[in-house]
Amino acid sequence: MIKPHGSDMLNPRYVTQDGERAALQKEADGLPKLLVCSQAAANAVMLASGYFSPLTGFMNLQDALSVAENMQTTDGLFWPVPIVNVVQNVAVIQGADRIALLDPNVDGNPALAIQDVESIDMATDEQMVAIAQKVFGTTDPRHPGVNNFLSAGKIFVAGPIQVLNYSYFAKEFPDTFRTAPQIRAMIEKNGWSKVVAFQTRNPMHRAHEALVKIAMDRVGADGAIIHMLLGKLKKDDIPADVRDAAIRKMVELYFEPNTAEITGYGFDMLYAGPREAVLHAIFRQNMGATHLIVGRDHAGVGDYYGPFDAQTIFQNDVPAGALEIEIFEADHTAFSKVVGDVIMMREAPEGHRKEDFVILSGTKVREMLAQGQNLPPEFARPEVAKILMDYYQTCS
Ligand code: ADX
Repeated sequence: MIKPHGSDMLNPRYVTQDGERAALQKEADGLPKLLVCSQAAANAVMLASGYFSPLTGFMNLQDALSVAENMQTTDGLFWPVPIVNVVQNVAVIQGADRIALLDPNVDGNPALAIQDVESIDMATDEQMVAIAQKVFGTTDPRHPGVNNFLSAGKIFVAGPIQVLNYSYFAKEFPDTFRTAPQIRAMIEKNGWSKVVAFQTRNPMHRAHEALVKIAMDRVGADGAIIHMLLGKLKKDDIPADVRDAAIRKMVELYFEPNTAEITGYGFDMLYAGPREAVLHAIFRQNMGATHLIVGRDHAGVGDYYGPFDAQTIFQNDVPAGALEIEIFEADHTAFSKVVGDVIMMREAPEGHRKEDFVILSGTKVREMLAQGQNLPPEFARPEVAKILMDYYQTCS
């Protein structure tokens, strides 16, 4: 199977041994406690799940600056996005070398992890802005990822962690949340050798479905891992439980049996476009996928990125040999009224016009659903559209 990123073995930071975990839990009760932000908690869950191997914990300021600037840590590990625990105030942990990290996303803020505090550094405003500019390509506070990053604080609490639980993800999504070792085991059990991963934060419409099928066909894959984000999104995105239900229905009805696994990971969306696409590739390699689909406006938001910037970053900025996983570059995909099927635009027959495609923007889709208008069957499978309609009609 494909090797994990940067080492021969995965390095999940969840403490699997029950006795050891119980002892750490007890220790956590007596340690100085730091309530972390949602993104740091999600980073801890990704570290726990082996997705962020070979990292062992949170980066210090120097590593964060180096990753932002050069896509590598000060030790030379290829890495595209700082994995940090930034806070506004460290008075409560002053002088401590071991602290408990409290989970902001679970009632009562239980301990999520124990961190060895290796360093505490305060970034300057200029350093924070420089990191945001490099990672998000903008410092516009209206960008949801920039806004989260710049409002979390500028004190970097660095050091390795031991994680006590998977936050709310394992409990709320027991059938979908999976760790990297679990997905590797799934791939092994299925006997798959070529595996396409599909990143998604949306319910899967017909374009998404076609992308997975086209990619599987073109790379000769044995199977696909649909790997959905289960963490926090911006307000108008569709919540994970609704997406999960829609995706399950679509796979049940429109995929050959045993060709696609439905899974998810516990991370908050960064909307960092190209840099997030590279992070996506790393953690899909860690879970054992040989290919990652990167299509139009991957991990994007608004107009901050060009539609295919998340593909060109792999060609221009990822050094040869840095990743083993391969990228399946998908063109804009939509239903063609001429062909009568969903196709990639670059493969449209001669004379095909833009108007021959059925294209709906995310905003238009939300408007239609909010007004109780059915989505066209060329855009969404009717069974998927119904699940979305039920959600919009009950939540608005
Ligand atoms: S993302 O933020 O997770 O990238 P989304 O779930 O919509 O958003 O997209 C999942 C994947 O499908 C990404 O690789 C994206 O580029 C691709 N994608 C979505 N819609 C299209 C489309 N119409 N044409 C081509 N690629 C698409």
